Amino acid sequence: MNKKLFGFDVDKQWDYENGFYLTSHLTRLPKMLAHYELYKSIINLPGCIVECGVYKGASFIRFATFREILESPFSRKIIGFDAFGEFPKQDEKTDAKFIQEFEGAGGFGISVDELKDVFTHKSFENYELIKGDILETIPEYISEHPELKIALLHIDVDVYKPSVTILNNLYEKVVSGGLVVFDDYGTVAGETQAVDEFFDGKDVQIEKLSISHIPSYIRKK
Ligand SMILES: C[S@@+](CC[C@H](N)C(=O)[O-])C[C@H]1O[C@@H](n2cnc3c(N)ncnc32)[C@H](O)[C@@H]1O
Repeated sequence: MNKKLFGFDVDKQWDYENGFYLTSHLTRLPKMLAHYELYKSIINLPGCIVECGVYKGASFIRFATFREILESPFSRKIIGFDAFGEFPKQDEKTDAKFIQEFEGAGGFGISVDELKDVFTHKSFENYELIKGDILETIPEYISEHPELKIALLHIDVDVYKPSVTILNNLYEKVVSGGLVVFDDYGTVAGETQAVDEFFDGKDVQIEKLSISHIPSYIRKK
């Protein structure tokens, strides 16, 4: 029987790759290149890669791949926070509507076990997947790991409350020169509001690379 990963047939990988190039929106490849450029800029810094919002694992696997080709599996840990299943519901109207449309279009996220199978298939090591509502898992993780240092924080949870929790708990863990990368700034209301409120009055510049309008990022002073 053909090996399957999250429902994908490993023997059809060339078809999937061709399908990506033939069908993907013009913005998808530039976003991957932007992540690559941003990753290259943190390789001399200490600290983990932390992704908040893993969904089906695409950007998490991307960062793990960049670590593999630019550094080494043990240069830094990659940590992913997500519900790993259903998108946690929100009361706020705009966020609730966003979640309904998002799940309607793309379905539920990958499970922890399925993503671990993918990492085993790719021979990736030195990673951690933290399942649950970020409103609880991030403060818990910080209290258990007060020494956490972050070189690159990728925020991609779309909605307001988890974005606030992430910024309140993890921004201070980002090392000087490190990056906070926003997938949804200026495009999704909840995350945009959280970012604007958190950085209001702070001396930071939200930047973009010329090759892609997503992501935006801040380089911490
Ligand atoms: C846009 S997707 C992430 C996409 C992924 N970074 C990528 O590019 O491949 C957003 C993810 O954030 C997760 N998420 C949003 N709010 C959350 C919360 N409060 N706790 C845990 N996960 C949350 C959702 O379940 C979903 O998997």
